[in-house]
Amino acid sequence: MENLTREGPTTATKPALSVEDLVIEYRLARGGVVRAVDGVSFDVGESEIVGIVGESGSGKSSVGMVVAGFLNATDGRLHFDGTTTQEWGQVSNSGRAGVQMIFQDSSTAVNPRRSVGSIIAEAIAKGGRITKSHIQQSVAYIERVGLDPALVNRKPRELSGGQKQRVAIARALAARPGLLVCDESVSALDVSVRARILNLLVQIRRDEGIAILFISHDLAVVSQLVDRVVVMQQGKVVEVGPVRDVIDRPQHAYTQKLLNAIPRLERTTVSTHPNQQFTSMKEETS
Ligand SMILES: Nc1ncnc2c1ncn2[C@@H]1O[C@H](COP(=O)(O)OP(=O)(O)OP(=O)(O)O)[C@@H](O)[C@H]1O
Ligand SMILES: [Mg+2]
Repeated sequence: MENLTREGPTTATKPALSVEDLVIEYRLARGGVVRAVDGVSFDVGESEIVGIVGESGSGKSSVGMVVAGFLNATDGRLHFDGTTTQEWGQVSNSGRAGVQMIFQDSSTAVNPRRSVGSIIAEAIAKGGRITKSHIQQSVAYIERVGLDPALVNRKPRELSGGQKQRVAIARALAARPGLLVCDESVSALDVSVRARILNLLVQIRRDEGIAILFISHDLAVVSQLVDRVVVMQQGKVVEVGPVRDVIDRPQHAYTQKLLNAIPRLERTTVSTHPNQQFTSMKEETS
């Protein structure tokens, strides 16, 4: 399969994350092996937002899980924050230091019995004992993601989906990551909430300089947020490049197919410049 790489001027010079020849295989319970990711390479520059798009089953989440340290790769190398991971087999429940991951449904990732304040304080304390001071510090993160500080004592089940996703982002920020991996993090949200979360991610990159790996099956959403995009098909990268080039002049038939899947009304917003403040796509197009 051809790998069309077009590195443009937006490519940051110093990669925060470098993924090289990544191979991920799953062993099936009833025997046999599934090769979900087959020789994937890409970089995420410092303070850069890189998207991974591709249809269901193309291997996006598998890549994200390995980058975040929740899953072992079968082969390949990962360079992050000055260290190289080559010896696979050391995953832990806490993931990789310096990388935080936000999932589609954050309620599965947070302890339902804890308050919002202690969920965030836990990240500030980095696994140590949570003190009153940590809880007090959590308020700054609650405000940072645009939530009412009064939510500090609420439990996750007492929050809306959008609020829960903001808490997940606040907790991730509190761990002071160099890289944020977002896996379908806005897919379950209503369009206007989605737009606000995407704006928040743009602000986080701008203010905190955190690099973001944004995984989504939705090229319309990705095109509004990212600097560069990696297009995956059946475990392989078929196209990489600055998002404008990939959207305006897709080199691969598969990318064109993903573009064609975007509803006509949304396609107008796809051609706007990335990273600008956007309202909900529905509001802009209706
Ligand atoms: N635990 C597992 N055991 C066996 N096969 C798996 C496992 N997890 C994923 N796979 C397989 O690996 C491939 C890639 O899955 P992955 O979840 O990475 O895809 P994806 O691009 O994130 O898809 P989606 O858009 O549906 O989330 C698929 O064929 C899937 O069936
Ligand atoms: Mg997935």
